[in-house]
Amino acid sequence: MTDKVSNKSMLEPFDGITIALSKGRILEETLPLLAKSNIALLEDPGKSRKLVFPTSRDDVRILIIRATDVPTYVEYGAADLGVAGKDVLMEHGGDGLYEPLDLKIAVCKLMVAEPIDSQRSASRPKVATKFVNVAKKYFAEKGQQVEIIKLYGSMELAPLVGLADCIVDVVDTGSTLKANGLMPTELIASISSRLIVNKAAMKMRHQLIQDVLDQMKAAVDEAQA
Ligand code: ATP
Ligand code: PRP
Repeated sequence: MTDKVSNKSMLEPFDGITIALSKGRILEETLPLLAKSNIALLEDPGKSRKLVFPTSRDDVRILIIRATDVPTYVEYGAADLGVAGKDVLMEHGGDGLYEPLDLKIAVCKLMVAEPIDSQRSASRPKVATKFVNVAKKYFAEKGQQVEIIKLYGSMELAPLVGLADCIVDVVDTGSTLKANGLMPTELIASISSRLIVNKAAMKMRHQLIQDVLDQMKAAVDEAQA
């Protein structure tokens, strides 16, 4: 009964702006930047099964979703703003979003990695990755034939058990690669998280969104100073 009541209120139209974030490092690193716009979560998402969170501003709410789903929610207008890694945006593709601000958080590199003792002699090496589109494009542009094997995580395991010759994944300290006998061999792209904006919302709610953008830009500049 109580659930029905609270669900009903969640489905009521919301006039403010909706921001899509993912749990983990993006949420942790984005919250201090949002605080600059006086946007604070009223509840800890780590201790709740809720997916929609009110904030200290009546005109702003936050959705907590999977990192890879953030561009989809923003592109379709289910969220006005979102924060997504450049790796996720490259994989998502398309031009359905504005990407006005580099938040300079969750900094890492998208790389090819392979076993330290690799000979890489296969004429059509197997590449394990969750970044299927990025990997296809990267190797096609190099003119190298590869077989892409789609995984959803723990890519580092694939070469160890003979599933793949190499992987495409994000690398930060390199310790996960090292712990699994792999080494980075090719840089595909330098990665950080971006604030993304729905194109229609940018027009319809320009002032509200521009204010948040300006304040977050100031917070990024301050963090980098
Ligand atoms: P999911 O588990 O939903 O598939 P995910 O594991 O990619 O998502 P996170 O690990 O929170 O989600 O990563 C979010 C973003 O942070 C990535 O898209 C990437 O841009 C960046 N990132 C990933 N791993 C690291 C890392 N080790 N160091 C710094 N940034 C990282
Ligand atoms: C990410 C990524 C690598 C690791 C790289 O995993 O998938 O495995 O970080 O970081 P490193 O170079 O500092 O070791 P994450 O920690 O996000 O865990 P996940 O597998 O749950 O995504």
